[in-house]
Parts: sequence; structure tokens; C-alpha cells
Amino acid sequence: MRLSRTVLPTRYDLTIAPDLAAGRFEGSVHIAVEVTEPTDTIVLHAHELEVELEALEQFGAALDATLVADPDAERLTVSAADLAPGPATLTLRFSAALSAGLVGFYRSTYLDDDGTEHTLAATQFEAPHARRAFPCFDEPEFKAVFAVTLVVTDGLVALSNAPEVERVRLDGGRVRIRFGDTIAMSTYLVAFIVGELEVSQPIDVDGIPLRIAHVPGRGHLGAFALDAGAFALRFFTDYYGIPYPGTKLDLVALPDFAFGAMENLGCVTFRESLLLVDRDTVTQAEAAQAALTITHEIAHMWFGDLVTMKWWNGIWLNEAFATFMEHAGVDAYRADWKTWDDFSIGRAMAMDIDALSHTRAVEYEVRTPEDADGMFDILTYQKGGSVVRMLEQWLGSDAFRAGVRHYLDRYALANTETTDLWDALEAATDQPARRIMDSWIFQPGLPEIVVEPVDGGVRLRQHRFTYEGEADGQWSIPMLVRVHPGRETEAVLLDDETTIALPPNGIAVANAGGEGFYRVAYPPAWIPELVAAGADSPRERFALVDGAWAGVIAGRAQAADFVDLARRLESETDIVVWRALATRLRDLVRLLDGDAADAFREIVRTTARPAFDRLGWEPAPAEGPRDRQLRGVLIDLLGTVGRDPDIVARAQAFGDGAYTEPDIVAACITVSAAHGDQARFDEYRNRFETADTPQEQLRYLYALPVFPDRELALLAAEYAVSTVRPQNSPFVVQRALKHPEHGPQVWDYVREHWATIEARFPPTLLPRMYEGVTWLVDDASVESVPRFVADHPISQGERVVAQHLERQHLHRALYERERERFATSMVH
Ligand code: BES
Ligand code: ZN
Repeated sequence: MRLSRTVLPTRYDLTIAPDLAAGRFEGSVHIAVEVTEPTDTIVLHAHELEVELEALEQFGAALDATLVADPDAERLTVSAADLAPGPATLTLRFSAALSAGLVGFYRSTYLDDDGTEHTLAATQFEAPHARRAFPCFDEPEFKAVFAVTLVVTDGLVALSNAPEVERVRLDGGRVRIRFGDTIAMSTYLVAFIVGELEVSQPIDVDGIPLRIAHVPGRGHLGAFALDAGAFALRFFTDYYGIPYPGTKLDLVALPDFAFGAMENLGCVTFRESLLLVDRDTVTQAEAAQAALTITHEIAHMWFGDLVTMKWWNGIWLNEAFATFMEHAGVDAYRADWKTWDDFSIGRAMAMDIDALSHTRAVEYEVRTPEDADGMFDILTYQKGGSVVRMLEQWLGSDAFRAGVRHYLDRYALANTETTDLWDALEAATDQPARRIMDSWIFQPGLPEIVVEPVDGGVRLRQHRFTYEGEADGQWSIPMLVRVHPGRETEAVLLDDETTIALPPNGIAVANAGGEGFYRVAYPPAWIPELVAAGADSPRERFALVDGAWAGVIAGRAQAADFVDLARRLESETDIVVWRALATRLRDLVRLLDGDAADAFREIVRTTARPAFDRLGWEPAPAEGPRDRQLRGVLIDLLGTVGRDPDIVARAQAFGDGAYTEPDIVAACITVSAAHGDQARFDEYRNRFETADTPQEQLRYLYALPVFPDRELALLAAEYAVSTVRPQNSPFVVQRALKHPEHGPQVWDYVREHWATIEARFPPTLLPRMYEGVTWLVDDASVESVPRFVADHPISQGERVVAQHLERQHLHRALYERERERFATSMVH
């Protein structure tokens, strides 16, 4: 499946001329190669391109050569009698339509203030789609220098990885813009963008010009990204101890974008909502998400772009490491955002998936690039990021950084295997990093540590944690253990079993700091003491809540036990613990109806109202960002699940300008949607279409599927399927499927409109849509969803969909177990 290494590209001189009006482009590429052994063929990639061979030259002479395309293999073969070892050059011409999807060299459109449509063209080459834009050796190991030239209509902005170095006016109102040479890098990192964009003035970040680019009229939304981006550039230059590998950095917001953002060297692309921010109206969560995304991509400039995986099996480490680094970077940028605490949510999502029978090992053998598509999921990002963080905490952050520096320095401009990083960490720390990490990376699942009292202390043992059935697994667990009283934290490496000495009546917190990727089964009697011991650690309290919920799903604990724990935490003040509670309380109400549901809503009110009243409607002047965010979470919980009449009434009045604090405003939008009528729905749809910022736009859009009437839930689905940008539609349908009452009807709508959905939604985002089915626990859906999925295979993310179906099945089992007993516990 992989290209041979007899012919290695060293440099591409690439000229591309897009015609935005015609929706086409043409170009030529001159590839300098090094022939390493005698051969008569050069094989490279091209996909959906019309290609002609212009010349093959070696040692100053043109060779007789022919070109044959193999469309199924996405390959070109150039044959010539004798190619001798040494340099040669290959020149090809090509043309194609701009892609209508969101990969390759694709077309994106937007409306200006007058409602006139404009077109731009942008690239997304990961992974592997550079072959859709120009013939190339489209594998990450074939690093080469890229010299890009764009021929565009005069007046358009053209951007690429390197700065513009020459501009020549041509006949016919066109200009030829040449960009400087890149470093030797992989094809998937090449980028070019052409359109009527606005580009900010550069800010100078220790010699690197940093700019943002976007469609016209959004310049006032750029200051946040420039600030966060400048910080990240400096932070990583210092952390890695290596200068930034590019010569400039543009952060480009695109109106249509399949993913969140993409780390093209020097020319990072984003969804608008993750780059363009109005500091006055953004919520804490929205701002943090944008900063994390910006930081993540800038972390890749070194880890990923300067040093790159040899093959796609290593893509998980690329993403896991950047996920780790986005939090390290934002933690340095805004310590009061406590981003490592929020990361508990991502870790918990990964631990949830890892308890399913449809989980997978983080790293596996990748034969075709399509196999690698299955790697871009929560297990790669959140489990991968979690185990990197767990290792860093266990080794110590300075020693860890030393290992990372050593690795980047040694492999700069080159390619690596996963194990090269562990070996560098071993060299820096003298600890068995490779053995530890192999146990987390090459086997699926996660361990549960069982804490058992023995004479004078506790014994720790491990087994695999699953929701259903038993499965094998053994891990080298880098644990941090804290003993109370005394509060000493100790690093333990648990392989088989170990014993920890305890003082009389002492306890051991087996996941001190709450950053281990494992569950802990404590003696039940310890729970109150563990809550007390976690008084200073929101992450530890989060782990207790999350562990309690996992016990409910596994059928080891009852829903009512979870409610008891929630009530025990009513004096809880931390946002991340409340987010865990709010999510589960929202899930639990699905198990009930009638009086039992009313009684449960009352419990939600009495549990959350005191926390809300401590904060009140008026933000205190010295209040921190996390309290602001918590207020929004509590308004949402009380207003939707709790149906607190006071909250609902105030939320419905928010449009009168009563509250301007963004977290209050955002929560009020959701709450009043959950109690809104057709007029409110129309108002929100209109606000979505005319909103001033990308975040505000999404708040209204994502509120449409929560209106209470069945017709409105279906209208939201229809609007998503027919009208909303394909990059956002799957998320709207996902939310509509999660509608607390009308999910099953929305599911029927999805089935009936599958042809349109399949044609319009980006294939990469279909699994995100299917995420909505996990709580369809009624008889009809339980039967129809799995059958429909089996009958309508999708091209990407099948495993993720299988995980959603497994969760649907687990929720159905929970519903059957709890329906009566939980209801009974509520009305007594
Ligand atoms: N390299 C990825 C983007 C990507 C993902 C390309 C999947 C091709 C397939 C980029 O660095 C990334 O991780 N983007 C994230 C956002 C990030 C903040 C987690 C994304 O797009 O979701
Ligand atoms: Zn990434």
C-alpha cells in the first residue's frame, strides 16, 4: 500500500491558478527527486485530477517517459527506460474542479451584508488529501521543501505556508504571487487559500509576524486570537527550547471547515467560532475553547510539523500530545481558568468509551490511510492526552519536558515512531516510560484499582473495568497515592499488586490529583472521608462523581445512590464537579415520568438552588471566570431539568436586555428555548441568521432543537438537513435526537431523509450526528436504530457509531433496571 522509497522528493515548485467563478483550478508542479537505486518507474499520488506529463529530466537530458494513471489506487506511474541513482526532475500539469466537499482544494461560500454570495478556495489535506490538489508523494515520511506560487485575480488575497516574496502583474487582470520556501515538511501540511479575505496588521512576536485572516467585516473579532496566539508562540518556543519552525504565522478563519482547526505550518486554518471572538459577549467556555484550539494548533508547529510521524499509525501521538500541550499552554496563559480541571470532562468521556466492548487500542496497525480515519476520535485525543498527562505528572514536569526537548531536537525535520518519544523520556528520567506507555497504548480498555483493607493498611490490585461482561488486561499504572491523615503523596508503579501502610483509621486516595486514567473501587464506608479528603481538589471530587455514575451504568449501583451522592455535594462550589452532576441529573430525568419525574425535578431544584443563590444574578465584582461559568451551568440545570419557575421567568425576560453577562445570556437562551413557542423559535432562527459573532450564531442555532413542541423539534431537524451549513448540521441533528421528549420522532425524520443527509453532511461528521441516538431507549428506536445503521454503512467512523449503539443498549438496560425502582424511590 505504501510508496517505495526508491524515489524521494526533495523539493516541489508548485504553481496553482484557481478560477473561483468557474469553480476550477489548474496548475503545474516541478518536483525535484533523488533516485536512490536504478529504476524505471516513479510512482506518486493524484486523486480526481487530470494530469499530463510535461517532462522528466535527469543529468540535463530529457528522458522518454510515459504517464499512466490508476484512479482506484489514487496513483500515477511515470515510466522511463533508465533512471539512474541521483537527482532527477519531474514536471506535471494538472487541472480539476474545486472540491465540493471540505477536503482537498475546496470551495467555500459566504454572504456579505447585502446578501451577495462570495466564493473562496481553501485547502484541507489531512489526511491524505494533498493528492486532490496536486500530484505528490502523499505520505508523511516524504518530507520536502515547498515553494508555492498562486496565480489569482488581482485584488484577491492569497495565503500559503510561507510569506509572499514576489508579486508580478500578468495580462488579463491576474497577478502571480510567489511565496518563500518552507522547511522540509510533509504534504499534509501544505496550505493555500484564495479569496476576498481581510488580513490584520501583523503583530511582532519576537521576530515572527502573527496575523489573523477572515472574510470581510470581522476584523474587530481578532484581538483575542492575536493575544492567545502570541502567548502560545512564546510559550512553546520556551517550552520546547527550539525556535518556531516557520517564518510567519497566519491564523485563518474559514466559513466552511470540516474539523475544528488544522495545523498547516505557518497558515493554520480554523472554523470561525474557534478563532473570531468578541471578548465582551463571549462566554467563559467559548473563550476557553477558542484559546485551547489556537494553542493546540500552535503546539503542532513543532510537535507534528517540525517532527512528524513516519506513518499514520502515529497520528494518535501527534494529536494526544497536542491535546496535552493545549492545556499546558492555556494553563500558563490564564491560570485562573483551571483548564486542567476542565480536562477531567474529556478524560471521563474517554474512560466511558474505554469501558465498552467496542473500544479499541489507542495505537493499532494502519495499512491504508482510511484505517487512520478511525483514529481521529475521543480515544486518540482524550485518552491519548490523558495518558500523556498521567505520565508527565508521574515523571515530574521538568523531567518530562527535558525528554520532549531531547526528542524534538534529535528528530527535527525528520520522522519518528511512537517509541522514539518514550525512549527519549527514558533517557531523561531513568524510568520505564516505554513499558508503561505500551501498556496503555497497545491494549484496549482501562483498569480499575481495587482498594482492600488488610492488616496495617490496604492492598491495591487491578483488573479491567467494563460495563458488561469481563475482559482481560493488565497495566503498568503510574499512580499518585495520598495517605490521610498526613497528606503525603507518593508515586507508585502498580503492576501486579502492592500494599500501602496506613495510620490507624487512615485512608488512601488512590488517584491523588485526579489525573489518573483509571477507576478506583474504594471500601464503600470511605466515601464521606474521600469527599472530605478531596476538599482541595475539584478533580478528585469529579472522579468520585464520575466513578459513581460509571457504577450506575455498570449496574453495580442504583440511580438512587447517585442522587444521594449528588445531594451530599450540595455545598459543592466548583464548576467541573457541577458539570458532571448536571450532565447525569439530566440523564436521570429520562428514566422517569409523571409524579416521579416531578419529584426528581424538585430534588434537582433543592440541590442546585442553594449553589445558585450563593452566586445570584448579579456577578460580584471580584468574581472569577469559573464562578461566572458556574452561574450559567446552574441556570441551565435549574431552568431545564429543574423547571424552576423563577429561573424560567427571568430567562424568558432576558431578551429585554436584563442581563448582559455572557454566561447568563447564553444560559437564558437555552432555558427560554426549552420553554419557548413557535414565535420564539422564529425569533431564534432569525437571530441565528443575523448574529454578530460566530459564537452567538451557534448559541441560537443549537437552541433550536430544544424547543418543547414536537413540530418545532422536527422543524429544527428539517432546517439542519436542508439549510444549515453542512459543517454545523450534524450537531443540530445530534441535539434534536437528544430531545428529552421527541428524540424518537426526530430519528424517524433522519431515516426518512437519509438520502439528503448522506449527500449533504461531511462524511467525517456523520458519527457526530449519530451521537444523538444514545438515549433513544423506547422500544421502537432500540429495534430500528441498530438495524438502520447495519443497512446503511457509512464510509468513516464506523467504530464510533458502534460505540454509540452500545451506549444506547446500555442506557436501555439501565432504563429497564431502574424504571420502577428509581420511580419508587422518588415518590417515597
Ligand atoms: N490535525 C487536526 C485536524 C484534523 C483532524 C485533520 C482530523 C484531519 C482529520 C488538528 O490539529 C486538530 O486536532 N483539530 C481539532 C481541534 C483541536 C483543538 C482538538 C479538531 O479539528 O477537532
Ligand atoms: Zn491536532
